[in-house]
Amino acid sequence: MVKRSTTAKKSSKQVSDIESSKYAAAKEAIKLIEDGMIVGLGSGTTSNVFIKELGNKILTEDISVFGIPTSFESRMLAIQSGIPLVSLDQCDTIDIAIDGADEVDKKSLNLIKGGGGCHTMEKIVDYFAEEFVVLVDNSKVVDVLGDKTPVPLEVLPQTYPTVLKELLNRGAAPAIRMSNKKMGPVITDNGNIIIDVFIDLDNPEEVERDLNNIPGVLENGIFTKVDKVIVGHPKKVEILER
Ligand code: 5RP
Repeated sequence: MVKRSTTAKKSSKQVSDIESSKYAAAKEAIKLIEDGMIVGLGSGTTSNVFIKELGNKILTEDISVFGIPTSFESRMLAIQSGIPLVSLDQCDTIDIAIDGADEVDKKSLNLIKGGGGCHTMEKIVDYFAEEFVVLVDNSKVVDVLGDKTPVPLEVLPQTYPTVLKELLNRGAAPAIRMSNKKMGPVITDNGNIIIDVFIDLDNPEEVERDLNNIPGVLENGIFTKVDKVIVGHPKKVEILER
């Protein structure tokens, strides 16, 4: 059975609580960063708070930390924040990756990511890191993964008809993500399109593997290898660990 998301308008108090919660989570994550580390820099508004705080830490503590960005946006912000960058071909390991999420299953810590369409590079960096830490505000924590948020697939543009057919055959409800500021679909940093799909997530590890086996799908937004989730609240943080 396919469920659809509902968007309710948030009050200004809710918006400000969410902002304070993101900040609280980012400040907690900063405590994990040590001199000499290579740090995966996630994408999205919560990761952006962390990136700015990391820039401050490097400046004020005069430490040597290198970042690996997961998107065009996190790359730009890291440069503006004074974080020296390296690419995947310049490092053997990533010590820690800090990233956001669209939904977190509070029991398993499995995630849905890709609301910003950057999940392919995010998964490469996050899964390669020695430790993968997720930052969210409390509104992202759910009992049942995928009820309200679809799973994004990054798809080679010319394969959209066959990918859509295959998803429909599997009983899923797919939709091409359309752009607000240009005609046509959202185009990712890698020049591909996004198909958002409501699909049964009873076994997230299996679905994560299976979706990537559809020819034309580059990567999906189910993340099942998370070490720690820092949940920000307006005045405290909560740490969820496997
Ligand atoms: C981008 C992502 C983001 O991490 C996710 O969408 C959360 O973003 P935000 O912190 O803005 O809520 O996966 O592809």
